[in-house]
Amino acid sequence: MPTETHLLPATPEGVAQASAVLGAGGLVAFPTETVYGLGGDARNGRAVARIFEAKGRPSFNPLIVHVADVAAARRIVRFTEAAERLADAFWPGPLTLVLEARPEAGLSPLVMAGLPTVAVRVPAHPVAQALLTAFGGPVAGPSANPSGRVSPTRAGHVMDGLGGRIEAVLDGGACPVGVESTIVGAAGAPVLLRPGGLPVEVIEACLGAPLGAAGAGISAPGQLGSHYAPGAAVRLEATEARPGELLIGFGPVAGELTLSATGDMVEAAANLFHLLREADARAGGRVIAVAPVPDHGLGRAINDRLRRAAAPRG
Ligand code: TXA
Ligand code: MG
Repeated sequence: MPTETHLLPATPEGVAQASAVLGAGGLVAFPTETVYGLGGDARNGRAVARIFEAKGRPSFNPLIVHVADVAAARRIVRFTEAAERLADAFWPGPLTLVLEARPEAGLSPLVMAGLPTVAVRVPAHPVAQALLTAFGGPVAGPSANPSGRVSPTRAGHVMDGLGGRIEAVLDGGACPVGVESTIVGAAGAPVLLRPGGLPVEVIEACLGAPLGAAGAGISAPGQLGSHYAPGAAVRLEATEARPGELLIGFGPVAGELTLSATGDMVEAAANLFHLLREADARAGGRVIAVAPVPDHGLGRAINDRLRRAAAPRG
């Protein structure tokens, strides 16, 4: 049976209602600085199962657990020296740490999808902070989009993809960072599991050492193959629109839509997912072509998402 999805304002009342929905085992999409998350009580197996169901997500793909602060994270995972250093430098913020789970934390095993580790994150967005503080418990939250599709950076995107499947969306406007958090495996020697909103260079400067690359077997399971895919086909590294294409420009490459006319990577990241949706809506059978974006700083995350958007569909 379809669920009526309430659009809640980011007021104290809206946050209180959202918190009550979580407490009752319901699902609430909420804004973070990266993208909107689809939240459910991480200790409630039924709520977590409904997250997978609402997204149409393969159940082997584990979820990120959101908490309000480092103290709450410590109750869920065992910190290592590298994790201490990264949390101290970058939380709250667009960084997720994968660490060894504490079995006594009471998380639903579905959250970890059978792994001995948990991905934890302390988001900086004031509305996410308000919700996590009001709720007072760990909130499992993948990006609030149907599995494999473009991540949502506005409440309207969530409504388009998940309206009728979840109880509420807390509307915090557009997400300022626009790409998902950087994921670092920190249970052992730190490895990059997913480039994201915190540039790899900044993390490496903090650690004073390069991040390792994830081995074939242990990379973030959600990082394989086609993902973030719009409906239209996607061509990358385009310096001009060919016949039958809609071009998304960047810097010197001008397009029908533009990630950033000045070549500003922060602006491009913030615009990325919204423009992929906009291009899809306008394409009318055309291929979406995307101009080259330099592969450093936030460009690493932008190019990672673009490659997956362009990957052969499974
Ligand atoms: O910015 C973000 O990270 C957003 C906001 C909502 O917090 N969340 C997000 O979640 O992007 P999701 O579920 O779309 O991506 C989580 C990624 C997946 O690729 C998943 O495989 C990986 O994290 N992951 C989760 N737990 C893991 C674990 N224990 N080990 C390795 N990878 C893990
Ligand atoms: Mg996602």
